[in-house]
Amino acid sequence: MKQILKIITVFSFLISTLIIYINPEVNANEKDQWQKIKERGELRVGLSADYAPYEFEHNVNGKSKYAGIDIDIAKKIAKDNHLKLKIVNMQFDSLLGAIQTGKIDIIISGMTPTPERLKEVDFSKPYMTVDQKMIIKKSETDRFKTIEDFANKKIGVQKQTQQEKIAQTEIDNAQIQSLTRVPEVIMSLKSGKVNGMVIEGPVAEAYLKQNKDLTFANDVKFNEGRKETAIALPKNSPILMEKLNTSIKDVKNNNLLEDYKASAADAMQKDDGNFFTKYGDFFLKGIKNTILISIVGVVLGAVFGALIALLKLSQIKILRWISSAYIEFLRGTPLLVQVFLVYFGTTAVLGLDISALICGMIALVINCSAYIAEIIRAGINAVDKGQTEAARSLGLTYGQTMKSVILPQAVKNILPALGNEFVTVIKESSIVSVIGVSEIMFNTQVVQGASFDPFTPLIVAAILYFILTFTLSRVMYFFEGRLKVSD
Ligand code: ARG
Repeated sequence: MKQILKIITVFSFLISTLIIYINPEVNANEKDQWQKIKERGELRVGLSADYAPYEFEHNVNGKSKYAGIDIDIAKKIAKDNHLKLKIVNMQFDSLLGAIQTGKIDIIISGMTPTPERLKEVDFSKPYMTVDQKMIIKKSETDRFKTIEDFANKKIGVQKQTQQEKIAQTEIDNAQIQSLTRVPEVIMSLKSGKVNGMVIEGPVAEAYLKQNKDLTFANDVKFNEGRKETAIALPKNSPILMEKLNTSIKDVKNNNLLEDYKASAADAMQKDDGNFFTKYGDFFLKGIKNTILISIVGVVLGAVFGALIALLKLSQIKILRWISSAYIEFLRGTPLLVQVFLVYFGTTAVLGLDISALICGMIALVINCSAYIAEIIRAGINAVDKGQTEAARSLGLTYGQTMKSVILPQAVKNILPALGNEFVTVIKESSIVSVIGVSEIMFNTQVVQGASFDPFTPLIVAAILYFILTFTLSRVMYFFEGRLKVSD
């Protein structure tokens, strides 16, 4: 009980220091966002590239490229203002948070201005108007015709979108299934987990073209049938607002939207070649990054973990508390939460501009260090007490005992567990895909979007992860065997 109280005290202390140090510069926002963009020379546009024909990834000679109407608009804005363009691809439901923490400057992601969103961001003049549609399985056209037919039925939507709202308010007692990404909802529909999906017209058309088993429920009409699409920007940025509106006006006056739509349609055309020639590169890139972040996670995690373990074994109480608090917190909270904390915290709290890849690595290192600290501590404790006693009575100092008697034995306990941790990290690292780190899972989602095939990429991902972890555990068994032999 006392122990727990201590941990809580140390913790509240750590958290309150963190809050006191919140960087006022970042939150004050007294500066027009435009000035920051100009100083940086780069416009950071946030979007969720699961939304053809607005924004999606496709492959050009095996290289992943962004395409779509929103991408073309982003390019135009950057060009009009002599800025470099940086596309930040993330989940749709993370975009508003990203603008508020300063991770991105604007959102061009087929976003509809709504009263709720207007509380957090401003919107440019609209650049498009779109219809809201319901899509279903072709085999169920007789069952689902009008909106009444969907009462009490399961409806799929993308999380935190206008479509989610429409399904909630306009369909009687709908059971709503909200998923983060559009391909996931499409997959739910195809596999019969939901009966219908509320989706915007152009996006529906893009997906229907590639999924012949799906179709429109043509007689479904929504009250909120037409919606506008605009660019979101931080509040109180009149200069930025004006720049955006100027570019949008230009797009309208010169009818550029038609060109953008045409080139989006072009990019959506499936080129020849099989799944692997087209998307192999995405997976290769994913494998490279998964291996990279896992190695960094385990190696640096082991370094910090060793330090934490030493603290935990130390004679000084306060050091023991701090390390216990650290370990308990990291083991007691989901990695997903930690990843978001690092990603948004580094900008919002610390005012640093760190790439998603580095943020992902930092989160993994921190998380691993807690688990590895426990592995090391347990490994050391597992060495028989008599060993220390014997060594000390032979006149060795504490340090000498550790170095030449305890640690060499502890390593035999630690190494296998460390190997297990490595396997775990490879699998867990898939979580950093949520902030846009281009590892296996992230690229799987990219391929789901680019191929309009939600299922095959998942199978490939499963196989790739299995190959990585299986190979690693074979290697481990080999070394474990060697350790035993040397016993
Ligand atoms: N227009 C809808 C909204 O603003 C959906 C936008 C979804 N965009 C995306 N890139 N997935 O709520």
